[in-house]
Amino acid sequence: MSSQAGETTKPAEKGKAHSANIDRSKLAKLLAEEDALFEQTHKRSRQLFERAKKSLHGGVPMNWMIKWASPYPVFVKEGSGAHFTCVDGHKYLDLCLGDTGAMTGHAPPAAVEAIVDRVRRGTTFMLPSEDSIVVAEELSKRFGLPYWQTALTATDANRFAIRLCRQITGRQYVLVHNWCYHGSVDESFATLLDNGEVGPRRGNIGPPVNPRETTRVVEFNDIAALERALADGQVACVLIEPVMTNIGIIHPDPGYHKAVRELSEKYGTLLIIDETHTICTGPGGYTKAHGLTPDLLTIGKPIASGLPASAYGFTEKVADLIAKNTRVSDCDTGGIGGTLAGNALAMAAMRATLQSVLTQEAYDKTIPLTTKFCQGVQEIIDQYKLPWIIKQLGCRAEYWFRPEAPRNGSEAAAVEDHELDRYMHLYALNRGILMTPFHNMALISPATTEADIDLHTQLFREAVEKLL
Ligand SMILES: Cc1ncc(COP(=O)(O)O)c(C=O)c1O
Repeated sequence: MSSQAGETTKPAEKGKAHSANIDRSKLAKLLAEEDALFEQTHKRSRQLFERAKKSLHGGVPMNWMIKWASPYPVFVKEGSGAHFTCVDGHKYLDLCLGDTGAMTGHAPPAAVEAIVDRVRRGTTFMLPSEDSIVVAEELSKRFGLPYWQTALTATDANRFAIRLCRQITGRQYVLVHNWCYHGSVDESFATLLDNGEVGPRRGNIGPPVNPRETTRVVEFNDIAALERALADGQVACVLIEPVMTNIGIIHPDPGYHKAVRELSEKYGTLLIIDETHTICTGPGGYTKAHGLTPDLLTIGKPIASGLPASAYGFTEKVADLIAKNTRVSDCDTGGIGGTLAGNALAMAAMRATLQSVLTQEAYDKTIPLTTKFCQGVQEIIDQYKLPWIIKQLGCRAEYWFRPEAPRNGSEAAAVEDHELDRYMHLYALNRGILMTPFHNMALISPATTEADIDLHTQLFREAVEKLL
């Protein structure tokens, strides 16, 4: 998830979307029709929402669950594979997949079996289980890092990795990319202000300190700025996604990762790669696929088939430094914790997911399907000469209302079209497809079929044709 409810964290008013050929009054009329259709066909969800508002703040159990294209959220009943049903009895093709948490498809049988088995035998003990060793061995094989620890969320994995980097380097700052997202990590909610300084990003709720005290920010793909930010030797770690995914898919320029690695090495800064979303690239994420060599790596979301679990790994050198800087007697008070972290249930789910669900065979299926998804959208863009693009990263795809790919977060954030976004999402939702909220992202699961992709292409075409 990349933003908080009720407020976009993107600078919506900054730029103009490349949708000048779209008649805005027609768009408003279409949106009103879609809102009415949604209301008509989601009466049970409406009832539940009204009831929920009396006990759940905002009517939802988590604040961002309100931020969908529909006038109120669809209340879910159950899901299996690439589909789920709602309380009104409609079946949806899920291209959101819990914003990557369910990239495995819902309830994948191998994981369900392991989870049910573990639930029957006890879930949390404060003791290690053998599954945790298998998980670490499997993660080592995939990402090339020898030592692993676990947490419950990718947010926590990032927070813990940052703390360790600060401790072992004795340095104060974390460096992130402008418009990045790494979870609810205080240091990462920083942005470059118009005057070029670092400040709190819009939507940053109650930051403990102004993030300029903790964070340096550079644009993705800006090697010179990166060197300037690292040069005084005060940056403990660079925390990056290897491809930006939370402000649309932004690929690195050729040579960017080589420069990031060399510069962090040169200035004694540790490199953390966050693979939470880029695990869509393949079984070893973008890191394995492109031979990257981070000092630490974090991952969460899909690695336990939808159960809360995450992991962070590090090199031998980092492991030694951690050992030198940590006393066992302090390990229960050190800011790296979570009573339920490393629990036996999460370990069983991770083991099954890594061994039997997020396999090479799964990617061999999902990546070509994603290419088909992109081709379908591209044909329509070409046919109607729309100034839009579509980008792919493994089994993740995203279309944008702009004619060329942005190179960094600011360029991406400067152009957004909230109304058009909402129309495309709601048109699809009313006809049985859930896209990822906040942007036009689709994820393909191992259970998604060619027919599912064809349905998306058909609905995308219809939505565009109605608009023009
Ligand atoms: C790249 C990345 N890292 C970390 C996170 C945090 O994940 P979680 O919210 O599960 O802690 C996210 C969430 O969207 C993410 O996109």
